[in-house]
Order: sequence, then structure tokens, then C-alpha cells
Amino acid sequence: MDPLEAIVDEARRAFDAAADAAALENAKARFLGKAGALTAQLKSLAALAADARRERGAAVNAAKAAIESALAARRAAIDDARLARELAADALDVTLPGRGADRGGVHPLTRTLDRVETLFRSMGFAVAQGPEIEDDFHNFTALNTPANHPARSMHDTFYVEGGALLRTHTSPVQVRYMETHAPPIRIIAPGRVFRVDSDATHSPMFHQVEGLWIDRDVTFADLKGVITEFLRRFFERDDLAVRFRPSFFPFTEPSAEIDMSFGDGWLEIAGSGQVHPNVLRAVGIDPEAWQGFAFGMGPDRLAMLRYGIDDLRIFYENDLRFLAQFR
Ligand code: DAH
Repeated sequence: MDPLEAIVDEARRAFDAAADAAALENAKARFLGKAGALTAQLKSLAALAADARRERGAAVNAAKAAIESALAARRAAIDDARLARELAADALDVTLPGRGADRGGVHPLTRTLDRVETLFRSMGFAVAQGPEIEDDFHNFTALNTPANHPARSMHDTFYVEGGALLRTHTSPVQVRYMETHAPPIRIIAPGRVFRVDSDATHSPMFHQVEGLWIDRDVTFADLKGVITEFLRRFFERDDLAVRFRPSFFPFTEPSAEIDMSFGDGWLEIAGSGQVHPNVLRAVGIDPEAWQGFAFGMGPDRLAMLRYGIDDLRIFYENDLRFLAQFR
């Protein structure tokens, strides 16, 4: 057998045996490389006479072409196999059910607060905020509740190291706002408040919406008008009744508790009153020139009524079976 045929045969077998591109390159070197079998044949041409060289040269070239085409064919086959493997590995079963993403929802209390803000904004109130960790001055003293005042015991206060406290109501935001803004003032201040208290209708953390309207001649009649209008719009009930019950707060005079009714008994939803002159004095506002009302409302109570919930604690338990109803 002509050694050329043997070389071509051997090259074909070596290429077929190569399992991957790297093995194929090694096999190629054995035949077409500098020290390869076919290269040796090419070199041996130099020793031949011209005629013999031409004839033998053609044969060697034909062998080389055969080896190169075998190489190309094997390369293509290895490439195809790799592509097929990759496609199989990446295969996507479009008939599988989707993993999906659960739709979230706005928490019922957040919704309620958003609604409260929207309605008060529409009545010309700005929205103010204050810190949840307060000092004694803003939470009590400036609100006409000095140390040892009996009204302090109405609030079971959480104290923080260093004399600070968790605000027991949003009323300190009134003080902070009046310290930094001159009247006229018309704000609400929604936020979290804290008291040592916990049962079906009390949570150690709950919400209040403070209201404050100070101008030259804002009266108790304005308070009644604003609150009644707000509640009727909040509950979308024109037949909703509101009553003001005489009460006491150190920071208002006169003071009233506000109750509302759908016609079947009364529910207390806020404390309120005309801002006490001492509160205005504490922030440097002249009570002879300015006056107005304040209120502190319980939006958690509003949310319970609006959504028909009888246990306040369920708002804070993060039970998805409850929360999913508000998507
Ligand atoms: N801060 C009072 C409380 O937490 C509620 C309150 C009553 C706020 C009367 C007021 C007000 O602004 O005028 O019990």
C-alpha cells in the first residue's frame, strides 16, 4: 500500500476518534504539523528528480486535500454535536406552569392614611411630620402639661434611655410646626404613637392624625364644619352624624371628644378643642392675635369601621390571609 494512502487512512481514523475540538487539533498536528506524517512526505520530494517530483507532488497534494477535507468534516461534526448538547441543556419547556409573582397590596392602614391625607389636602391642609422619639418638652410641657400634671398619667409613656420618650400622641408635631412656622397655619400630622397598652382595641403602637388650624378668627364652628365634612366624605355617607361631647385636654380650652354615628350608637373617633393660649405662648405666638382649633384623630379606628374589623391587633400581625383581602 502506498504510504500516502496509509497516512490518509490513519488521519481519517484519528480525526474520527477525536472526541472534541482540542483532541482534533492534536490529531491534526500529527499529520499536517511541522513534524507531521504528511509534512515528511512533502519534504521527501526534494530528493526526487524533476519528473518524478511533479508526479509525486501531485499525489502528495491530493493526499493533503483529502486529509484537510476529513479534518473540516470532523470539525463540523464536533461543532454540531456541541451545539446540539447546548441546546438540549438550555431546553425550555414552554408547557410548564409559570412560577408567577404574587400581587401585593397597600396595607389597609396605609390606605386609610392616604385617604385621610387626600381629603384634608382638598380642604387646604398641608401635611406635617415630627419625630417618633420625642422630648418631654414637646410631648408634654409645651402642651400645657407640666411635670406632675395629673393629665400625664393618662398616657402610659415608654421612656427611652437619656430622658427621651416615644411620643404618646401626635400633638407634639403642633408644637414643632408652630416653632418653625408663623401663622396662619393649617396642617394635619399623621403618624405613629406609642403607649404601654395592649388589648383588642389598644396596641402599644397605633396611629393618630393631628390637626391644627390657626388664624385670626378660626372658631369651634370651623372645627365642627371641618370634622363633619371630613367624616362624611371619608365614609361616603351624608347621613353620618357627628356630636361633640365636653371633655378635658390640657392643651385645649374648651375641649371636646368627637363621636360619630351611622344611626346605631356613637363611636369616639377624636379629641379636639380650641388651642389653649398657653400652648400658643409656649411657641411665641400671641394668643390675643391668633386662635384656632386642634384635634387628634384615631385613623386605626376609622380603618376598623371602614373595613368592618373588630380587632385592632390584626392590622399588625402581618397575616397574609387577612392582608390579601386588600389587594
Ligand atoms: N393628643 C390627644 C390624645 O392623644 C388627642 C387630642 C385631643 C389632640 C385634643 C388634640 C386635641 O390636638 O386638641 O389623647
